Amino acid sequence: MAVDLYGLLADLRAFRALADRRGLVLVEDAAHCVEGGRDGYGPGQLADYGCFSFYATKNLTCGEGGAISARDGGKKNLLRQLSTHGMSRNAADRYAGKYQHWDMERLGYKYNLSDVNASMLLSQLPKLAGRLARREAICRRYEAAFRETPGVSFPAVPDGAVSARHLFTVWVEPSRRDAILADIQARGVGVAVNYRAVHLTKYYRERFGFARGMFPSAERIGDSTITIPLWPAMTEAQVDEVIAAVRAAVAG
Ligand SMILES: Cc1ncc(COP(=O)(O)O)c(C=O)c1O
Repeated sequence: MAVDLYGLLADLRAFRALADRRGLVLVEDAAHCVEGGRDGYGPGQLADYGCFSFYATKNLTCGEGGAISARDGGKKNLLRQLSTHGMSRNAADRYAGKYQHWDMERLGYKYNLSDVNASMLLSQLPKLAGRLARREAICRRYEAAFRETPGVSFPAVPDGAVSARHLFTVWVEPSRRDAILADIQARGVGVAVNYRAVHLTKYYRERFGFARGMFPSAERIGDSTITIPLWPAMTEAQVDEVIAAVRAAVAG
């Protein structure tokens, strides 16, 4: 399972090659990456399944729900059927035109996005490119500022990639992260942490016996990351304010 974290498409060409070599199914978590691309590919194009989220925090949202893409047409039909109880016809098929019997072909789920929700997505599609361009400009300002700020680094977008710029995160000294986080908030700027290392959360520790030290890269990033504000309607003054708050908090 490859995750397109923060809007940057994972190195799907490498994952594809690995999956092909080992006969594995490749699932892409593209929840952050509707608008992203890398090496000429978009989200869901190299994975067997691409999973998208329309949850409230996402760049393309209808409050809740998501979508799956499948490279294989047969699997696409299977997913469609599984999402509507396993019936051979969905409601639109059943009630458009003349009645025809439908069959229960397998045991499925009720995992369809409602038409009302889907209609909210449609009206956002033409706005995606403009919003991305604005978030890109904001991220470039952050990058230029934090490149010059001692004690702050950030995950770089590699050449050949178009990040969907879903979240902007910085890395700071792990032992000071929580203090810096509190200081930025005290200056009136909202923050989040995406994400602390998952294996150190209660359920995974207790269920699987995971402990600190087992996944040092995840722990280092989880301990040092801070998400700062990013939304397309941000003004230049707000961007300045965020940069100043982060710099002041890091300088201590
Ligand atoms: C990287 C990532 N994957 C998956 C999800 C889950 O999406 P959903 O809540 O639509 O299942 C989220 C977020 O909310 C996410 O940030």
